[in-house]
Amino acid sequence: MAKESPKEIFLKDYKLPDYYFDTVNLDFILKEEHTLVHSKIHVISRQGTLSPLRLDGVDVKLLSIRINNKVVKEGEDYSLSSKHLILHHPPATQFVLEITTEIEPQNNTALEGLYKTTGNFCTQCEAEGFRRITFYQDRPDVMAKFTTRIEADKSLYPVLLSNGNLIEQADLPDGRHYALWNDPFKKPCYLFALVADQLVSQDDEFVTCSGRKVALHIWTPAQDISKTAHAMYSLKAAMKWDEEVFGREYDLDLFNIVAVPDFNMGAMENKSLNIFNSRLVLASPETATNADYAAVLGVIGHEYFHNWTGNRVTCRDWFQLSLKEGLTVFRDQEFSSDMGSRAVKRIADVLQLRISQFPQDAGPMAHPVKPHSYIKMDNFYTVTVYEKGAKVVRMYQTLLGKKGFRKGMDLYFERHDGQAITCDDFYAAMRDANNANLANFKVWYSQAGMPS
Ligand code: PHE
Ligand code: ZN
Repeated sequence: MAKESPKEIFLKDYKLPDYYFDTVNLDFILKEEHTLVHSKIHVISRQGTLSPLRLDGVDVKLLSIRINNKVVKEGEDYSLSSKHLILHHPPATQFVLEITTEIEPQNNTALEGLYKTTGNFCTQCEAEGFRRITFYQDRPDVMAKFTTRIEADKSLYPVLLSNGNLIEQADLPDGRHYALWNDPFKKPCYLFALVADQLVSQDDEFVTCSGRKVALHIWTPAQDISKTAHAMYSLKAAMKWDEEVFGREYDLDLFNIVAVPDFNMGAMENKSLNIFNSRLVLASPETATNADYAAVLGVIGHEYFHNWTGNRVTCRDWFQLSLKEGLTVFRDQEFSSDMGSRAVKRIADVLQLRISQFPQDAGPMAHPVKPHSYIKMDNFYTVTVYEKGAKVVRMYQTLLGKKGFRKGMDLYFERHDGQAITCDDFYAAMRDANNANLANFKVWYSQAGMPS
């Protein structure tokens, strides 16, 4: 295997994918010594392409590849390096690609991809963790419909969760069982999630504005379940608020939240299976402060709001991260303001901006809300992308008024539902919905630092 060193990636080099993935069937056999992942992808080539298909893969062992049910040969048909699997000449127009890989979640300490935490299986795929699960085009502009089958020991892992709706679940010989999940919405692989765990759930229900019933579950280890009341309250409040303020209804019959003790980044908006660090879900009157309660409300809201701003409408590439994060932080700020005190929330947010973002913008780490380049994407989840990005979104609302901003949001969803897009597209929706002259506004995205 050839070694590949880290490379700087530039926004200006963005190219459309040559191959799209239509449907993806994933099959996980979870075992203690290793996990087998079988993927079956319906691939569609962009018209006229003759280029090789390059798949990302890190720390995954390739067991087999088939194209249209035929075994392909290393060297002749494909080559492998430490980070890629390249299919040299895939069939024209469309084909079925099947790949079997072996991974070791129990030895995965990256907290990315599929890993074990306190004895249980859990995933984290944003930004580029899916490539640690199987070979894939690990980029957000490749959106596919996922079906996921999970098989595991029943006594060790009674709860098997993934994205979308639960299609079937049954026992297997040797004390094993499986669950089959189907997510009807196209999504990038960074929104994929899987959990196999010993958990219990607090259950509730939300009736949407059009009268659909949505089953709500918050999953935790048994000893924590009594501390989930505020999280459930927050989730229902967020669902209602998004309907009332932005006209956004939830789109599946099921919504799951999982709280796990080891989770690097706070929380993650995986489609219909949000995963949180426990500290952002659990709260009890005996131990939680007002600030803890406010944080749970804000983060539960934030991850829920991503369903529309992030998941249904997603980013074309990681340079556009603020498209979903700036906008979703703005939305969670507005939510917390409406649920509590607008003035107190605003003071807290401005204070945070001044304490953490202003120094970043004034120092050697300064970068634009929409960066021009990166080496490792994980380092770009910054206060500039999130908090300054939210302020840039707030400026549209200040310039266009609340009504004008809502018109812009409506046009944004109308144009871009199901798409992977750019900050320019968001700008264009705001401008076009209001016939506004927003000349010079884009500088806020492309230029670092504070204007004088
Ligand atoms: N997308 C998450 C959020 O802001 C944050 C996150 C980024 C979590 C990367 C994990 C990894 O809601
Ligand atoms: Zn977010």
